[in-house]
Amino acid sequence: MKFFIDTANLEDIQKAYKIGVLSGVTTNPSLVAKENIKFEDRIAEICREVPDVESVSAEVTPNAITAEEMITEAEELININEGDDKITIKLPMNLEGLEACRYLSGKGVKTNVTLIFTVNQALLAARAGATYVSPFLGRLDDISEDGVLLVSKIAELFRLQKLDSQIIAASVRHPDHVTRVALAGADIATIPFQVIEQISKHPLTDQGIAKFAADWK
Ligand code: E4P
Repeated sequence: MKFFIDTANLEDIQKAYKIGVLSGVTTNPSLVAKENIKFEDRIAEICREVPDVESVSAEVTPNAITAEEMITEAEELININEGDDKITIKLPMNLEGLEACRYLSGKGVKTNVTLIFTVNQALLAARAGATYVSPFLGRLDDISEDGVLLVSKIAELFRLQKLDSQIIAASVRHPDHVTRVALAGADIATIPFQVIEQISKHPLTDQGIAKFAADWK
């Protein structure tokens, strides 16, 4: 399973990138709004900070309601850094988003269909040519459903039906989510920097380092 970072914060992206485990970045309108900066400028900055990752997801804005409007915004986004094919257009999981996904995928643009909460939605997105599908497990857990189970069912379905969309486990809230979606067959987990930090730690590791240091003295 690969790691993407789920943020529009440049500092967090830089910290994660220098560890050397980052394969991509996902953003969404809420994450960009927190940064108080022009959306397109931030996407351009992110792409410059992480030159060799496979994907930087930029979501069409909530102003784009129809497929045509989504495609117009997508065309502006993919031109932000000319020739940079890691810009991935994130589209909402609805009929308009699927139509835009089919069109953009046909043009060779990477797409990420987001806000997926059922296996059927993932199947539709895959059939619309999505490069990535993003089931939101934390938000399902929030309403007492099983987000990891959804990821494992989508992984099973994609295997059975030989669908090659990659599954991005999204809305990942804590280390246990990371372990469980990796075992459930997610291709990618997109996680906040705080969770990347958490999964690097264990109290026995810290104690062991301290003991080695003390013995060395
Ligand atoms: C993924 O692409 C989304 O940006 C994100 O994971 C949403 O997470 P949240 O439910 O914590 O807002």
